[in-house]
Amino acid sequence: MSQAKPLRSSFSGPLVGAIRAPGDKSISHRSLMLGAIAVGETVIHGLLEGEDVLHTAAAMRLLGAQADRDSDGVWRVRGVGLGALQEPAQVLDMGNSGTAARLLMGLVAAHPITCVFTGDASLNKRPMARVTTPLEQMGARFVGRSGGRLPLTVVGSDHLTPITYRLPVASAQVKSAIILAGLNTPGATTVIEAEPTRDHTETMLRHFGATVTTERQEDGALAVTVIGQPELTGREIHVPSDPSSAAFPVVAALLRPGSDVVLKDVGMNPRRTGLYDTLIEMGADITFENQRDQAGEPVADLRVKHSRLRGVVVPADRAPSMIDEYPVLAAAAACADGDTVMLGLKELRVKESDRLAMVADGLTACGVALEVGADDSLTVHGTGEPPKGGALIATAMDHRIAMSFLVLGAATAEPIKIDDGAFIETSFPGFVTLMNGLGAKITEV
Ligand code: S3P
Repeated sequence: MSQAKPLRSSFSGPLVGAIRAPGDKSISHRSLMLGAIAVGETVIHGLLEGEDVLHTAAAMRLLGAQADRDSDGVWRVRGVGLGALQEPAQVLDMGNSGTAARLLMGLVAAHPITCVFTGDASLNKRPMARVTTPLEQMGARFVGRSGGRLPLTVVGSDHLTPITYRLPVASAQVKSAIILAGLNTPGATTVIEAEPTRDHTETMLRHFGATVTTERQEDGALAVTVIGQPELTGREIHVPSDPSSAAFPVVAALLRPGSDVVLKDVGMNPRRTGLYDTLIEMGADITFENQRDQAGEPVADLRVKHSRLRGVVVPADRAPSMIDEYPVLAAAAACADGDTVMLGLKELRVKESDRLAMVADGLTACGVALEVGADDSLTVHGTGEPPKGGALIATAMDHRIAMSFLVLGAATAEPIKIDDGAFIETSFPGFVTLMNGLGAKITEV
């Protein structure tokens, strides 16, 4: 990552225009990984060219696949075939990306190769035991730092044992790591999730020709089963725009009077849309136009108009469907009328930063009254008016903290500065230009 890039966001007029936020990060990582283990060519339209995904592309090349960008922005991946990933001659540097690291650890665990994973200072703090514990049960070996943190070595095997594993945390990354390990393992590997998490791995695997079933258990949990050693064939993929990235211009438009913004091609997978449900409960004027389906993923154009928002209670069981959106929801809640209570936020503590602490500290510095509960809840006391702002926000290498406070700065009387906007490049390249094109006032400090 390059030098720190402080940014300032100042009070803006209405946001107006039609844009396409960049491609979905989760789907982009998965399309490169599955393309790399399929037979033949995978053609990817709309791949997110953020730094996180570019780290995945580089890793897949080190593992033997070809992944190239055409001059028109289309990516072509030539897969090696399932089971044929090569031992990389270099350390796999996953940058800032937990998704890239955890999914790839699962994939290489089922190959007879040894891989060393590392990341940046943020990623190397994040817990990996949640992935290594089930993969060890399957027979892979890991040597990492304390807590299983990176840098970490995976000693994989093509003789893993299939397992049935109940997720102790609601995590699509852990679920996906086990499914990807199960792919090159004979027999049926099952992951049971009490709370449904994003299912892009399952959907895309089916698209590539694998058998993946989802069955509801008696207790309401979902059992996701992959049948090992399928024939995976290269496919064409159209990556929708990321609902987690679209969230930033959506909230900015809601906060600024006179705004009318259209976001095109936004992924509307129901396991990702908790923020949109919540904003509509808060009184947001969001309409879903041109609804359609792309390779099993629902997509729509979103039209968003300025709205007066009121506080709501966001139940804990909604967290997996909006896990990355709490920072920007908190920015909206800070301008809403009344209390917004967000329950069940424990997982926010182990994201790119401790997001619960970073949001609470940043909003407090902007003049927002709030409480963090011992149960990892967040209550924001909105007054119906934007807070005063005027703070310098620490972003702790976290792109979503950075973008959330820049969005809030469009509504506060005093500008909000962030200490570093460089990490926005991990998920939303072109964020500042795109926001300013709509009418925001974000400048370098
Ligand atoms: C992701 C899953 C989520 C999310 C992350 C992307 C994925 O993490 O926070 O940004 O692509 O599977 P967890 O599954 O660990 O909650």
